[in-house]
Amino acid sequence: MKDLSSIEKKVQRELKNTASVNDLEKIQLAYLGRNGIINSLLREIKNIRPEERKQYGQKINELKNLITQSIETKRKELILSTDKQAIDVTLPGKPYPHGTLHPITYAIEEISRIFEKIGFVRMSYPEVEWEYYSFEALNMPKGHPARDDFETFYIDVPEHAKLAKMVLTPHTSSGQVREMLRLGGKPPIRMINIAKCYRRNWDATHAPMFYQFEGMVVDRGINITHLKGTIDYFAKNFFGPDREIRLRPHHFQFTEPSFETDISCNVCGGTGTVNGKKCRVCKSGWLELGGSGMVHPNVLRAGGIDPEVYTGWAFGFGPERCLMMKLGLSEIRDLYSGDIRFLKQF
Ligand code: DAH
Repeated sequence: MKDLSSIEKKVQRELKNTASVNDLEKIQLAYLGRNGIINSLLREIKNIRPEERKQYGQKINELKNLITQSIETKRKELILSTDKQAIDVTLPGKPYPHGTLHPITYAIEEISRIFEKIGFVRMSYPEVEWEYYSFEALNMPKGHPARDDFETFYIDVPEHAKLAKMVLTPHTSSGQVREMLRLGGKPPIRMINIAKCYRRNWDATHAPMFYQFEGMVVDRGINITHLKGTIDYFAKNFFGPDREIRLRPHHFQFTEPSFETDISCNVCGGTGTVNGKKCRVCKSGWLELGGSGMVHPNVLRAGGIDPEVYTGWAFGFGPERCLMMKLGLSEIRDLYSGDIRFLKQF
């Protein structure tokens, strides 16, 4: 029994004097190895008087645990201290974490570039806007049911006699009449208005704050083929050269005729089926980009433009939606989550 406590003291002394992991391993082997001291003590058990064997065994086990723990503690100490010493000044430094622009910002830049290439002027109009430019000027008088679709946020300030209430702009179409007036009612107009919009919506494809990009062209002799050609040009440049677009009749107050604008699905190649099954992305071969149409004569008039002389078209699409279609995302809210793990993928 005496032996055991002197063994313990000896180990502690040896550990104290150990300066390398290599030496530590030698100590470990000497005490805990197959032919080490602990095992040889255990082999001694047969020479112990039977009534003392149990106690002897327990003591050895305690000693074994103590030695194991002491060795581990020492190992940690050694690793930490050698880490500190081993600074290799020739190694390259740790890269400093750096941010990137948000994927929506990249998408907006790309969209701007595509339209600027064909002579569109990038504009952005107020995010806090009058009801007049958001609705009345767009042929949606007060009380018109179409206004309900816009789920508008109203600002709690006194009403303007002519421009009515203040709102968070519910769509970039509010820039249409502003742009006509900016140019003094004098076409040609080729505008791409990209701005934040706000609506009271919250689901997988709608966030209360989102972007839209609104294209508008007004000049003499402008017709639907120009609209179609421009959207086709955009689709091929943003999504890829084999994408097609189609216009589907729809209704908007501020365009006549109006269209929903679709782009062929890249998953099924516009056929609507994959391996004989309905395409899980589009179900029909087409994906909706947004609304478009020929600018309504009342809207041209609100902008001081004579609809007998000039015609125009406009469209309003969402950069987030375009981005989601391009990257195959199904949750718009991920884009606004600020979650670095999500954003780092792009
Ligand atoms: N402003 C419409 C919306 O937010 C989209 C839209 C439809 C814009 C037709 C247009 C257009 O310019 O011609 O739902």
